[in-house]
Amino acid sequence: MENIKHDLIVVDSEPSILEFKEIIKDIAKNPNVLALKERVQHKNRSRYYHCLCVAYNTYCICKKLKLDYISATRGAMLHDFYYYDWRDKNVEDQKKFHAFRHPRIALNNATDIFDLNNIEKDIILKHMWPLTLRFPAYRESYIVTLVDKYCATRELFKNFKK
Ligand SMILES: [Fe+2]
Ligand SMILES: [Fe+2]
Repeated sequence: MENIKHDLIVVDSEPSILEFKEIIKDIAKNPNVLALKERVQHKNRSRYYHCLCVAYNTYCICKKLKLDYISATRGAMLHDFYYYDWRDKNVEDQKKFHAFRHPRIALNNATDIFDLNNIEKDIILKHMWPLTLRFPAYRESYIVTLVDKYCATRELFKNFKK
């Protein structure tokens, strides 16, 4: 696992890295998901790394709050499961509609491969809330929306510092 220690929000909620790895094992080792290592999310961070950070922080927080941390972690690991580069200037309107479009693409990609429950699907589909107007249906989904923004901000901030 890539070093994500510096991007953790919660470190004292009795998280277990072994349990975390077990929860996401089939997802993290799937070749289609591993391909996200080749996709850049925020300049020097891969999309795989970003999903891993969101998933691990989600795992820690949801476990602490006694929520369905298994579904939350798995949904978080798949929340950005798409391959295109939203910065690609050759694709018309790519940047403009990316925020609204990629959750549905990620959900379709995920359901093509994995058998997802309603919480996992909601997490993927609503993770851009409040930009996408439909409210998340589960507390776990709200956690992922917040953690995603936290991780993305940290990744961007690190780039600005560099
Ligand atoms: Fe996203
Ligand atoms: Fe994300």
